[in-house]
Amino acid sequence: MVFEKKIIGHRGAAAHAPENTLVAFENARALNCHCIEFDVMLSVDGEAFVFHDDTLHRTTNGFGKFGLATSQYLKSLDAGRWFSKAFRGEKIPTFREVLEWLALSEMHANVEIKPFPGSTEQTTLAVLHHIRDYWPVGKALPLVSSFDVQALVMCHRLAPELPLGLLLHHWDEHWKRLADDLNCVSVHLNRHIATKSRVHAIKKAGFLVYVYTVNSKRLATKLFDWGVDAVFSDYLVLNMKTKYQLMVRRLI
Ligand code: G3P
Ligand code: MG
Repeated sequence: MVFEKKIIGHRGAAAHAPENTLVAFENARALNCHCIEFDVMLSVDGEAFVFHDDTLHRTTNGFGKFGLATSQYLKSLDAGRWFSKAFRGEKIPTFREVLEWLALSEMHANVEIKPFPGSTEQTTLAVLHHIRDYWPVGKALPLVSSFDVQALVMCHRLAPELPLGLLLHHWDEHWKRLADDLNCVSVHLNRHIATKSRVHAIKKAGFLVYVYTVNSKRLATKLFDWGVDAVFSDYLVLNMKTKYQLMVRRLI
């Protein structure tokens, strides 16, 4: 087993380049990552962008709430300078642009539907329409995940061919019924709720287990020993030295 094969690039390659940008995805590819995870949100006028936070200030030079911003405003922002001067001018990519990038690469993808509060239905429909209309022919379909169960219910009903992943930030005793009902292929656990017995139970029920966000080789090794199938990491080389530790804390 090649260790790095079991690492999914979290928000692209969040420790190496500004998260959820095309340059982060390029970095993931350069670091031989085989699968990236990214988040999709909608602007107020309904365009799908790849972005994580509800607000703009942490990762852009903009202000206010993401879901209240127009696509024109979002496209004017710098989403790279906060990370380092070297990335000045990097833009918030649209979902369409990321799909175009994926079409030109071998990279697998985990699309996380991240609805701005109150926009579950519109965000899910936008993600499904984009995948239906622009997913590269012949490429393995993306794994679609969300913390928002309603988003997954819509995916299951409207696009049953899509592989789904149930994301759990807090442990939910009803995980099996949810994952079964939604015909999920995987259950994605916050590292704080990942225990050996839970991992074994999920595996025994026939689902893949992924854990986020794992930025230490020691934790990754323990999780793999328990049977975890892959981890989401900001670091695509988990034995990178500790000069980045402060940055990791900021990213998590
Ligand atoms: O999908 C795994 C992970 O990305 C979930 O947490 O907040 O980084 O989107 P978050
Ligand atoms: Mg995510």
